[in-house]
Amino acid sequence: MNYILSPSILSCDFSRLGEQIVQADQAGAKYLHIDVMDGMFVPEISFGMPVIRSIRKVTDMVFDVHLMIEEPGRYIEAFADAGADIITVHVEACKHLDRTLQQIRQAGKKAGVVLNPATPINTIEYVLDKLDMVLLMTVNPGFGGQKYIDAVTEKITAMRSFLDEKGYPEIDIEVDGGVNMSTIDKVLDAGANVIVAGSAVFNQNGIEKNVRQFLDVFEKRT
Ligand code: DX5
Ligand code: ZN
Repeated sequence: MNYILSPSILSCDFSRLGEQIVQADQAGAKYLHIDVMDGMFVPEISFGMPVIRSIRKVTDMVFDVHLMIEEPGRYIEAFADAGADIITVHVEACKHLDRTLQQIRQAGKKAGVVLNPATPINTIEYVLDKLDMVLLMTVNPGFGGQKYIDAVTEKITAMRSFLDEKGYPEIDIEVDGGVNMSTIDKVLDAGANVIVAGSAVFNQNGIEKNVRQFLDVFEKRT
C-alpha cells in the first residue's frame, strides 16, 4: 500500500504560510491539502486562487485541493490554472457530478469526490470510471481541530470493499478530519491510504517532528 500524508494548511499560521509549507515539504510530506471554503457549502470562508498561485512558487508538493464550495464546476479551470494537481469536489455540492468530474479530467488534473460523514457510499457508484480518489470526511467539513467521528471507520472499510468489488482497487481513499497519533491506526487498518492532518501537523510540537511521526507509522506498515 502506498501511504501518503497530506498536511492541511488550514491549521497553518497564515502570517508564516510559505515558511510552514516548506517545513512540511522538507520533512517529507508529499501532498499539500488545500481547503477552499465559500461560506455557503460550509459556514467558513477560507481562501481561493490568489493564495494557491502564490504558494505554488514555494514548493513542488502535489496540491490536493479540497473544494468545499457550491457548484464547484464554475471554478475548475481557475483552480487548475492556479496550480492544483488533484481537485476534489463534494457529491453534496454538485448538481451534475459526472460533468464536474469530466471537467477536472479535461483540465488535465486528477479527480476526486468527497463524501460527508452522512452521505452513503453508493452515491458514487456510476462515476467510478472518472475517479482517481475518494475522500471520506471523518468530521463535518468546515473547521480544523474537530473530533474524529467513529462511525466513519466502518464506512472506510466498506468503501475499500466496494471499490475492490467494482473493479477499481487503484482508487485512493483519503480521510480528512480529526486524524492524529491516536486515530491514525484505525483509519489505516480500515483501508485509507491518503491521510489529511491539519492540527496534528501544524502545532506547537514542531512541524517537522509531527510530519515524521506520521511517516514513521506509514513505514512500519510497508
Ligand atoms: C475540514 C477540512 C480539513 C481540516 C482538517 O473541513 O476539510 O481538511 O483542515 O483539520 P484537522 O486535521 O485538524 O481535523
Ligand atoms: Zn479538507
